[in-house]
Amino acid sequence: MAEVTRVAVVGAGAMGSQIAMLAALAGCETTVVDIDEQRIDAALAKVRESVARSIERGRLDAEQVEAALSRLSSSTDLASAVEDADFVIEAIVEDLDAKRALFAQLGAFAPANAILATNSSSIVSSRLADVPSPGRVCNMHFFNPALVMQLVEVVGGTHTSQATVDSAVRLAERMGKTPVVVKQEVFGFIANRIVGAIFDEAIALLEAGVATAEEIDTAVTKGLGHPVGPFALLDMTGIDVNVGIKKLEAQETQDASRGPSQTLLDLEAAGRLGKKSGRGFYEYGAR
Ligand SMILES: NC(=O)c1ccc[n+]([C@@H]2O[C@H](COP(=O)([O-])OP(=O)(O)OC[C@H]3O[C@@H](n4cnc5c(N)ncnc54)[C@H](O)[C@@H]3O)[C@@H](O)[C@H]2O)c1
Repeated sequence: MAEVTRVAVVGAGAMGSQIAMLAALAGCETTVVDIDEQRIDAALAKVRESVARSIERGRLDAEQVEAALSRLSSSTDLASAVEDADFVIEAIVEDLDAKRALFAQLGAFAPANAILATNSSSIVSSRLADVPSPGRVCNMHFFNPALVMQLVEVVGGTHTSQATVDSAVRLAERMGKTPVVVKQEVFGFIANRIVGAIFDEAIALLEAGVATAEEIDTAVTKGLGHPVGPFALLDMTGIDVNVGIKKLEAQETQDASRGPSQTLLDLEAAGRLGKKSGRGFYEYGAR
Protein backbone atom coordinates (compact mmCIF):
# COMPACT_ATOMS: atom_id res chain seq x y z
CA MET A 1 0.00 0.00 0.00
CA ALA A 2 1.56 3.30 -1.11
CA GLU A 3 1.87 5.87 1.68
CA VAL A 4 -0.53 8.81 1.31
CA THR A 5 1.41 12.05 0.79
CA ARG A 6 -1.10 14.52 -0.67
CA VAL A 7 -4.44 15.12 1.00
CA ALA A 8 -7.27 17.44 0.00
CA VAL A 9 -10.00 18.22 2.54
CA VAL A 10 -13.16 19.71 1.04
CA GLY A 11 -15.18 21.91 3.42
CA ALA A 12 -13.42 24.23 5.87
CA GLY A 13 -16.07 24.15 8.58
CA ALA A 14 -15.82 22.93 12.16
CA MET A 15 -14.71 19.48 11.05
CA GLY A 16 -12.84 19.99 7.78
CA SER A 17 -10.45 22.63 9.10
CA GLN A 18 -9.32 20.40 11.98
CA ILE A 19 -9.12 17.29 9.78
CA ALA A 20 -6.88 19.25 7.40
CA MET A 21 -4.61 20.21 10.31
CA LEU A 22 -4.46 16.56 11.37
CA ALA A 23 -3.42 15.53 7.86
CA ALA A 24 -0.70 18.20 7.82
CA LEU A 25 0.49 17.07 11.27
CA ALA A 26 0.63 13.51 9.89
CA GLY A 27 3.18 14.75 7.33
CA CYS A 28 0.90 15.12 4.28
CA GLU A 29 0.92 18.08 1.92
CA THR A 30 -2.63 19.23 2.58
CA THR A 31 -5.02 21.60 0.85
CA VAL A 32 -8.29 22.64 2.43
CA VAL A 33 -10.95 23.70 -0.05
CA ASP A 34 -14.15 25.68 0.50
CA ILE A 35 -16.54 27.67 -1.68
CA ASP A 36 -16.35 30.51 0.82
CA GLU A 37 -12.95 32.21 1.18
CA GLN A 38 -13.96 33.93 4.42
CA ARG A 39 -14.90 30.57 5.96
CA ILE A 40 -11.41 29.30 5.14
CA ASP A 41 -9.70 32.28 6.76
CA ALA A 42 -11.86 32.07 9.88
CA ALA A 43 -11.47 28.29 10.13
CA LEU A 44 -7.69 28.38 9.77
CA ALA A 45 -7.43 31.16 12.37
CA LYS A 46 -9.40 28.94 14.80
CA VAL A 47 -7.19 25.95 14.02
CA ARG A 48 -4.09 28.02 14.77
CA GLU A 49 -5.63 29.00 18.14
CA SER A 50 -6.40 25.34 18.93
CA VAL A 51 -2.90 24.13 18.13
CA ALA A 52 -1.39 27.05 20.08
CA ARG A 53 -3.37 25.84 23.12
CA SER A 54 -2.16 22.29 22.50
CA ILE A 55 1.45 23.56 22.45
CA GLU A 56 0.85 25.38 25.76
CA ARG A 57 -0.55 22.19 27.29
CA GLY A 58 2.40 20.19 26.01
CA ARG A 59 0.23 18.03 23.72
CA LEU A 60 2.00 19.25 20.57
CA ASP A 61 5.49 20.42 19.90
CA ALA A 62 5.97 23.96 18.48
CA GLU A 63 8.39 22.84 15.74
CA GLN A 64 6.08 20.02 14.68
CA VAL A 65 3.20 22.50 14.39
CA GLU A 66 5.32 25.00 12.45
CA ALA A 67 6.30 22.27 9.97
CA ALA A 68 2.66 21.13 9.66
CA LEU A 69 1.43 24.67 9.01
CA SER A 70 3.98 24.98 6.19
CA ARG A 71 2.39 21.89 4.59
CA LEU A 72 -1.14 23.32 4.88
CA SER A 73 -2.60 25.47 2.11
CA SER A 74 -6.09 26.55 1.13
CA SER A 75 -8.03 27.06 -2.07
CA THR A 76 -11.45 27.84 -3.48
CA ASP A 77 -10.61 26.02 -6.72
CA LEU A 78 -11.62 22.39 -6.31
CA ALA A 79 -10.20 21.14 -9.62
CA SER A 80 -6.63 22.30 -9.00
CA ALA A 81 -6.75 21.39 -5.30
CA VAL A 82 -7.58 17.73 -5.94
CA GLU A 83 -5.79 17.12 -9.25
CA ASP A 84 -2.75 15.53 -7.61
CA ALA A 85 -4.31 14.38 -4.32
CA ASP A 86 -4.03 10.75 -3.34
CA PHE A 87 -6.61 11.03 -0.56
CA VAL A 88 -9.64 13.35 -0.50
CA ILE A 89 -11.76 13.82 2.64
CA GLU A 90 -15.12 15.50 2.10
CA ALA A 91 -16.50 17.51 5.06
CA ILE A 92 -19.06 19.85 3.45
CA VAL A 93 -22.63 20.49 4.65
CA GLU A 94 -24.73 17.46 5.60
CA ASP A 95 -26.86 17.49 2.44
CA LEU A 96 -27.14 14.51 0.11
CA ASP A 97 -27.57 16.52 -3.10
CA ALA A 98 -24.63 18.80 -2.29
CA LYS A 99 -22.44 15.80 -1.48
CA ARG A 100 -23.50 13.89 -4.62
CA ALA A 101 -22.72 16.94 -6.77
CA LEU A 102 -19.32 17.25 -5.11
CA PHE A 103 -18.47 13.57 -5.54
CA ALA A 104 -19.34 13.84 -9.24
CA GLN A 105 -16.76 16.65 -9.46
CA LEU A 106 -14.23 14.62 -7.46
CA GLY A 107 -14.78 11.73 -9.87
CA ALA A 108 -13.93 14.07 -12.73
CA PHE A 109 -11.03 16.07 -11.22
CA ALA A 110 -9.20 13.80 -8.77
CA PRO A 111 -6.73 11.13 -10.00
CA ALA A 112 -8.50 7.84 -10.82
CA ASN A 113 -6.79 6.04 -7.94
CA ALA A 114 -7.34 8.74 -5.29
CA ILE A 115 -9.35 7.55 -2.31
CA LEU A 116 -12.56 9.52 -1.78
CA ALA A 117 -13.76 9.53 1.84
CA THR A 118 -16.73 11.31 3.37
CA ASN A 119 -16.79 12.51 6.98
CA SER A 120 -20.60 12.39 6.99
CA SER A 121 -22.26 11.30 10.22
CA SER A 122 -25.35 9.91 8.53
CA ILE A 123 -24.91 9.73 4.75
CA VAL A 124 -23.32 6.41 3.88
CA SER A 125 -20.72 6.41 1.15
CA SER A 126 -22.66 4.00 -1.13
CA ARG A 127 -24.94 7.00 -1.80
CA LEU A 128 -21.93 8.94 -3.09
CA ALA A 129 -20.12 6.16 -4.94
CA ASP A 130 -21.44 6.97 -8.40
CA VAL A 131 -17.88 7.68 -9.60
CA PRO A 132 -15.32 5.79 -11.69
CA SER A 133 -13.81 3.00 -9.48
CA PRO A 134 -16.35 3.08 -6.61
CA GLY A 135 -14.10 0.73 -4.62
CA ARG A 136 -12.13 3.81 -3.49
CA VAL A 137 -15.13 5.40 -1.74
CA CYS A 138 -15.71 5.05 2.03
CA ASN A 139 -16.81 6.92 5.15
CA MET A 140 -14.07 8.20 7.42
CA HIS A 141 -15.99 9.57 10.40
CA PHE A 142 -14.13 11.88 12.78
CA PHE A 143 -15.56 13.22 16.04
CA ASN A 144 -15.85 16.84 17.14
CA PRO A 145 -13.39 18.43 17.93
CA ALA A 146 -11.37 16.34 15.49
CA LEU A 147 -8.00 17.56 16.79
CA VAL A 148 -8.84 16.19 20.25
CA MET A 149 -11.22 13.25 19.87
CA GLN A 150 -9.43 9.92 19.41
CA LEU A 151 -11.94 7.85 17.48
CA VAL A 152 -12.23 7.59 13.70
CA GLU A 153 -14.84 5.18 12.32
CA VAL A 154 -13.82 3.79 8.93
CA VAL A 155 -16.96 2.49 7.25
CA GLY A 156 -16.88 0.38 4.11
CA GLY A 157 -19.97 -0.49 2.13
CA THR A 158 -20.21 -3.49 -0.19
CA HIS A 159 -18.72 -1.26 -2.92
CA THR A 160 -15.61 -0.39 -0.85
CA SER A 161 -12.34 -2.28 -1.51
CA GLN A 162 -10.25 -3.68 1.33
CA ALA A 163 -7.31 -1.57 0.08
CA THR A 164 -9.41 1.58 0.63
CA VAL A 165 -10.36 0.54 4.17
CA ASP A 166 -6.69 -0.30 4.92
CA SER A 167 -5.52 3.03 3.54
CA ALA A 168 -8.08 5.02 5.61
CA VAL A 169 -7.11 3.06 8.74
CA ARG A 170 -3.42 3.74 8.10
CA LEU A 171 -4.02 7.47 7.55
CA ALA A 172 -6.08 7.71 10.76
CA GLU A 173 -3.24 6.00 12.66
CA ARG A 174 -0.71 8.42 11.19
CA MET A 175 -2.97 11.23 12.47
CA GLY A 176 -2.55 9.76 15.96
CA LYS A 177 -6.14 8.49 16.03
CA THR A 178 -7.70 5.16 17.00
CA PRO A 179 -9.53 3.85 13.93
CA VAL A 180 -12.35 1.34 14.21
CA VAL A 181 -13.58 -0.52 11.12
CA VAL A 182 -17.36 -0.65 10.68
CA LYS A 183 -18.16 -3.50 8.30
CA GLN A 184 -21.71 -2.51 7.35
CA GLU A 185 -23.32 0.81 6.52
CA VAL A 186 -25.62 0.89 9.55
CA PHE A 187 -27.35 4.10 10.62
CA GLY A 188 -25.26 6.01 13.20
CA PHE A 189 -22.28 3.65 12.71
CA ILE A 190 -21.16 2.57 16.21
CA ALA A 191 -20.63 5.49 18.59
CA ASN A 192 -23.65 7.59 17.56
CA ARG A 193 -25.81 4.47 17.44
CA ILE A 194 -24.95 3.74 21.07
CA VAL A 195 -25.33 7.31 22.26
CA GLY A 196 -28.72 7.40 20.46
CA ALA A 197 -29.86 4.31 22.40
CA ILE A 198 -28.79 6.01 25.65
CA PHE A 199 -30.84 9.11 24.70
CA ASP A 200 -33.87 6.94 23.90
CA GLU A 201 -33.71 5.10 27.25
CA ALA A 202 -33.13 8.29 29.22
CA ILE A 203 -36.16 9.96 27.60
CA ALA A 204 -38.30 6.82 28.13
CA LEU A 205 -37.41 6.88 31.86
CA LEU A 206 -38.23 10.60 32.06
CA GLU A 207 -41.54 10.17 30.22
CA ALA A 208 -42.49 7.29 32.56
CA GLY A 209 -41.86 9.59 35.55
CA VAL A 210 -39.15 7.29 36.94
CA ALA A 211 -36.80 10.19 37.76
CA THR A 212 -36.05 13.80 36.83
CA ALA A 213 -33.61 14.76 34.05
CA GLU A 214 -31.09 15.82 36.72
CA GLU A 215 -31.39 12.50 38.54
CA ILE A 216 -31.00 10.49 35.33
CA ASP A 217 -27.94 12.55 34.33
CA THR A 218 -26.48 12.03 37.81
CA ALA A 219 -27.02 8.26 37.55
CA VAL A 220 -25.21 8.17 34.21
CA THR A 221 -22.28 10.38 35.24
CA LYS A 222 -21.77 8.99 38.75
CA GLY A 223 -22.79 5.40 38.08
CA LEU A 224 -21.42 4.82 34.59
CA GLY A 225 -18.57 7.32 34.66
CA HIS A 226 -19.74 9.19 31.53
CA PRO A 227 -18.33 12.73 31.49
CA VAL A 228 -21.76 14.20 30.74
CA GLY A 229 -25.33 12.92 31.20
CA PRO A 230 -27.76 12.33 28.31
CA PHE A 231 -29.99 15.36 28.94
CA ALA A 232 -27.06 17.75 29.29
CA LEU A 233 -25.65 16.26 26.05
CA LEU A 234 -28.99 16.60 24.22
CA ASP A 235 -29.07 20.27 25.27
CA MET A 236 -25.47 20.75 24.11
CA THR A 237 -25.99 19.27 20.65
CA GLY A 238 -29.37 20.98 20.24
CA ILE A 239 -32.91 19.60 20.53
CA ASP A 240 -33.66 20.51 16.89
CA VAL A 241 -30.52 18.69 15.71
CA ASN A 242 -31.59 15.59 17.65
CA VAL A 243 -35.14 15.76 16.26
CA GLY A 244 -33.58 15.85 12.78
CA ILE A 245 -31.38 12.84 13.53
CA LYS A 246 -34.32 10.79 14.87
CA LYS A 247 -36.45 11.66 11.83
CA LEU A 248 -33.64 10.52 9.56
CA GLU A 249 -33.16 7.37 11.63
CA ALA A 250 -36.86 6.44 11.22
CA GLN A 251 -36.58 7.09 7.48
CA GLU A 252 -33.27 5.25 6.94
CA THR A 253 -34.19 2.22 9.05
CA GLN A 254 -37.78 2.24 7.70
CA ASP A 255 -38.98 1.94 11.28
CA ALA A 256 -41.37 4.70 12.37
CA SER A 257 -40.92 3.73 16.04
CA ARG A 258 -37.35 5.09 15.84
CA GLY A 259 -38.60 8.63 15.16
CA PRO A 260 -38.36 11.53 17.65
CA SER A 261 -40.09 11.12 21.02
CA GLN A 262 -43.01 13.37 21.98
CA THR A 263 -40.78 15.02 24.59
CA LEU A 264 -38.23 16.10 21.95
CA LEU A 265 -40.99 17.28 19.58
CA ASP A 266 -42.67 19.31 22.38
CA LEU A 267 -39.39 20.98 23.36
CA GLU A 268 -38.67 21.85 19.74
CA ALA A 269 -42.18 23.29 19.22
CA ALA A 270 -41.72 25.42 22.35
CA GLY A 271 -38.42 26.79 21.01
CA ARG A 272 -36.54 25.11 23.87
CA LEU A 273 -33.63 24.05 21.68
CA GLY A 274 -31.06 23.52 24.42
CA LYS A 275 -28.02 25.57 25.37
CA LYS A 276 -28.15 27.70 22.21
CA SER A 277 -31.65 29.03 23.04
CA GLY A 278 -31.04 29.33 26.80
CA ARG A 279 -33.45 26.51 27.67
CA GLY A 280 -33.93 22.85 26.79
CA PHE A 281 -34.18 20.13 29.40
CA TYR A 282 -32.25 22.59 31.59
CA GLU A 283 -32.30 26.38 31.96
CA TYR A 284 -29.11 28.27 31.08
CA GLY A 285 -30.04 31.80 32.14
CA ALA A 286 -30.11 34.90 29.94
CA ARG A 287 -28.02 34.79 26.74
N1 LIG B 1 -20.07 19.06 13.55
C1 LIG B 1 -19.95 17.84 14.05
O1 LIG B 1 -20.05 17.63 15.27
C2 LIG B 1 -19.66 16.68 13.14
C3 LIG B 1 -19.09 15.50 13.67
C4 LIG B 1 -18.78 14.44 12.80
C5 LIG B 1 -19.06 14.55 11.45
N2 LIG B 1 -19.63 15.70 10.96
C6 LIG B 1 -19.89 15.78 9.52
O2 LIG B 1 -18.92 16.64 8.94
C7 LIG B 1 -19.49 17.34 7.82
C8 LIG B 1 -19.25 18.83 7.99
O3 LIG B 1 -19.80 19.24 9.21
P1 LIG B 1 -19.36 20.64 9.89
O4 LIG B 1 -20.02 20.65 11.24
O5 LIG B 1 -17.89 20.81 9.76
O6 LIG B 1 -20.12 21.66 8.92
P2 LIG B 1 -19.92 23.25 8.78
O7 LIG B 1 -21.25 23.79 8.44
O8 LIG B 1 -19.17 23.79 9.96
O9 LIG B 1 -18.95 23.38 7.50
C9 LIG B 1 -19.31 23.04 6.21
C10 LIG B 1 -18.43 23.82 5.25
O10 LIG B 1 -18.63 23.29 3.93
C11 LIG B 1 -18.55 24.38 3.02
N3 LIG B 1 -19.16 23.95 1.77
C12 LIG B 1 -20.48 23.77 1.50
N4 LIG B 1 -20.63 23.30 0.23
C13 LIG B 1 -19.37 23.18 -0.29
C14 LIG B 1 -18.85 22.72 -1.55
N5 LIG B 1 -19.66 22.30 -2.51
N6 LIG B 1 -17.52 22.74 -1.73
C15 LIG B 1 -16.68 23.15 -0.76
N7 LIG B 1 -17.11 23.59 0.46
C16 LIG B 1 -18.44 23.59 0.68
C17 LIG B 1 -19.24 25.52 3.75
O11 LIG B 1 -18.87 26.78 3.19
C18 LIG B 1 -18.74 25.31 5.18
O12 LIG B 1 -17.54 26.06 5.41
C19 LIG B 1 -20.95 16.90 7.74
O13 LIG B 1 -21.09 15.90 6.80
C20 LIG B 1 -21.23 16.35 9.15
O14 LIG B 1 -22.18 15.30 9.15
C21 LIG B 1 -19.92 16.77 11.76
